Amino acid sequence: MNRRRFLKHSLATAAAATLGAPATRTAWARTGSRPRLPLPTLIDVSKSGRLDLTAQQGRHIFGSGEPSHTYGYNQDYLGPIVRARRGQEVAVRLRNGLDEPLATHWHGLLVPGNVDGGPHQAIDPGAVWEPVLPIDQPPSTAWFHAHTHPHTARQVYAGLAGVFQIDDGQDDARGLPHEHGIDDFTLILQDRRFDGAGRLEYRLGMFDRMHGFRGDRILVNGAVNPRAEVPRSLVRLRLLNGSNARIYHLRLSDGRPMHLIASDAGYLPQPIATDELRLAPGERFEVLVDFREGGEVELLTGPDRNQGGPGMMGMMGALRSQASALLGDDLPVLSFHPNDTHGSVDRLPDTISDALDALPTEFVRHRRFSLDMMLGGMPMMRGMMGGGMAGPTMGINGRPFDMGRLDEQVRLGAIEHWTVESDMLMHPFHIHGVHFQVLADETGRSPRLENRGEKDTMLVDGRAELAVTFTQPADQKTPFMYHCHVLEHEDAGMMGQLTVS
Ligand code: C2O
Ligand code: CU
Ligand code: CU
Repeated sequence: MNRRRFLKHSLATAAAATLGAPATRTAWARTGSRPRLPLPTLIDVSKSGRLDLTAQQGRHIFGSGEPSHTYGYNQDYLGPIVRARRGQEVAVRLRNGLDEPLATHWHGLLVPGNVDGGPHQAIDPGAVWEPVLPIDQPPSTAWFHAHTHPHTARQVYAGLAGVFQIDDGQDDARGLPHEHGIDDFTLILQDRRFDGAGRLEYRLGMFDRMHGFRGDRILVNGAVNPRAEVPRSLVRLRLLNGSNARIYHLRLSDGRPMHLIASDAGYLPQPIATDELRLAPGERFEVLVDFREGGEVELLTGPDRNQGGPGMMGMMGALRSQASALLGDDLPVLSFHPNDTHGSVDRLPDTISDALDALPTEFVRHRRFSLDMMLGGMPMMRGMMGGGMAGPTMGINGRPFDMGRLDEQVRLGAIEHWTVESDMLMHPFHIHGVHFQVLADETGRSPRLENRGEKDTMLVDGRAELAVTFTQPADQKTPFMYHCHVLEHEDAGMMGQLTVS
């Protein structure tokens, strides 16, 4: 039997046996009115230089059902928005109030490995972690989240994520809105499933293990399909995909454009108008939307097309109906209701920032990474035959992640060329401690909108070429991670680690 036929046979058998968690179609209590968009607490640390965080357990009511067991930083679910200034140091004091170990990573911050918060820096229940973060990077929207191997997916799903903004106080000069909650909204997008009583659900079926976990409801800042009041002016949206696996294809219901002003690592030189924006797990984009005309409009997400090619779907067999239930439809995200107030910005800025750095053309070293779903490997077969508890094995360059194995050693400051390849599914590839440039993506040598500017996460659809230059050191005890940001893939081993010296 060839590999594909063998797989097809095994998968069909296993699927029939393990399709335990179908998409929940709960009788969600429709109250008629949508909840107000929650505004996360803003903690401005630019004066104090101190950040106190407690990871804690919570009971949170989503909608009108029963309370769910959740996790959060300083609150029941999710965490605050931390705002810091370029050039300062932030002394963090993070207490683990959970009854399990926790690592917390600063995704997008250019800080050394010893304060990066990767899986080697997990702390015990009751313990305190006190990293000092030197903030020296352009203004941007970064974030922080649980990174405890191999429990990242479950811990983030339960709510362990917050936003970290770097600000330089120059947004007035740039002509950008920046009043938090007035004309500057931070939006954490997550998809979730709920059981019949309205409680958060996280049970992995075979489909979820293969494709990553998706929900059938979209939460913004922890509220299901909320509504936001906005002024009749230009409004800034800072979008973070904090979902485990869902790729958003965002658009506005009346087709009005979004003006892209920033990606992961900071501002673009000029706004770029687009009517659709693809947002992969871990990515951030900032857009301006024009509400001067008034009129309600809905932010929607289109079908998540990360289903794999015909081969993948053929193999998935019995899982196909679950796939279409979770991936197939347009879903509402957030509705906007312009009121009578006016924000401070009523024209689109022409120029925001300096021109992007030229792409390097000479490299001291080439590395190749393939993001592998090792379907033919014994671990997967054993797992599936044994009832699907183990799930598929994921890896990079054929090897699942091993905390005790160093995969790469990189020279500080060396300009490297990385080729990253994916087969079967698209994978959002993230590297700790660095901002990279995308030399080529699936569209070729003029990367799509989402891949311009400096990035720390990009969706690899077949093949991508990156220019990567580390400016932060990381030693063997606390190496930097690079991984797929589909959190179930990361936990299943699609991650590697490197030192920089
Ligand atoms: Cu946002 Cu290593 O992760
Ligand atoms: Cu990161
Ligand atoms: Cu992946």
